[in-house]
Amino acid sequence: METLRWEKGTLYLLDQTKLPFEEIYLPCRKWQDVRQAISVLAVRGAPAIGVAAAYAVVLAARACCEKGQDDTFLADLTAICKALDAARPTAVNLHWALTRMLAAAGEGGTPQAITARLEEKAIAIHQEDLAVNCAMARFGADELGKSGKKLTLLTHCNAGALATAGIGTALGVIRELHRRGLVSMVYADETRPLLQGARLTAFELMADHIPVTLITDNMAAWTLKTKGVDAIIVGADRIAANGDTANKIGTYGLSLMARELAIPLYIAAPASTFDLSITDGSQIPIEERNHDEVRSFRGVAAALPETPVFNPAFDVTPHENIRAIVTEKGIIHRPDAVSVPAFFQH
Ligand code: MRU
Repeated sequence: METLRWEKGTLYLLDQTKLPFEEIYLPCRKWQDVRQAISVLAVRGAPAIGVAAAYAVVLAARACCEKGQDDTFLADLTAICKALDAARPTAVNLHWALTRMLAAAGEGGTPQAITARLEEKAIAIHQEDLAVNCAMARFGADELGKSGKKLTLLTHCNAGALATAGIGTALGVIRELHRRGLVSMVYADETRPLLQGARLTAFELMADHIPVTLITDNMAAWTLKTKGVDAIIVGADRIAANGDTANKIGTYGLSLMARELAIPLYIAAPASTFDLSITDGSQIPIEERNHDEVRSFRGVAAALPETPVFNPAFDVTPHENIRAIVTEKGIIHRPDAVSVPAFFQH
């Protein structure tokens, strides 16, 4: 199953709002289609959003060419990138991909030449994500699997193939551990309110015949305490220079449970998820989403429509609660304000 596909100038996105019951690809021919898909989580997961946005810039460049106003081409493209960037404020991969695309656009040439270069760049960003996932999976499996013992793991949200263009970040590590015969069980938090764990992670792992047990989020502490969980592994949406990590709402709570129970928490994330321009997690913008996501699910009400709601999509886990961050360049043990910048200096 492909999360996204670029074919003859159209971006096809697997509509994740319909999974696991229907596999429908949304054809995106305009950048606005991609922006809408990102906003409603038809495409989601930080790395996949970055790749989708890169293709959206190609679609935007094409539209700007058709307008025929060469003198405003770059300014128009920059304004569109700003609009795309605002679609999901926490996932820094979106910003990272748009920055790379704008830099490529700025290398000069006619609008047509720039558009051709942008398509090459988007394809390169897409391909890079595949390779990055595989490298991360190997480093992560070496680290988590070093005892040679079969592991019981817990994960949250979906940091799998559906969240990337490859095999996933946290689920990429789990896939590689499983290939090495080192997975006993994966507990998947259902991940309220949009159920990425139930709809996507359980689905993905079952499809690959990796043992998975679905739990509701409020079962996590008891599962960690009673089921012999060896480690928690999750993805990330933005990591500050001191290792503070934004990920799906609920990750911070898991980190507190993990600390109490002395269970290591690992983050798996590519270099593109690090935001070294911010010193700590307090500077990470936290996306707040529509209140109806909490009051109902797929149109079925769970609360009165006027019920007041707080719906942050992400939280920030302090670096002290993280045992290590797995990247495509290696492992950052005990991430902090010294180890994270030092890791990227080499
Ligand atoms: O709101 P979502 O579904 O986009 O949230 C996704 C997550 O929080 C993932 O854990 C994160 O993006 C890492 S994906 C490899």
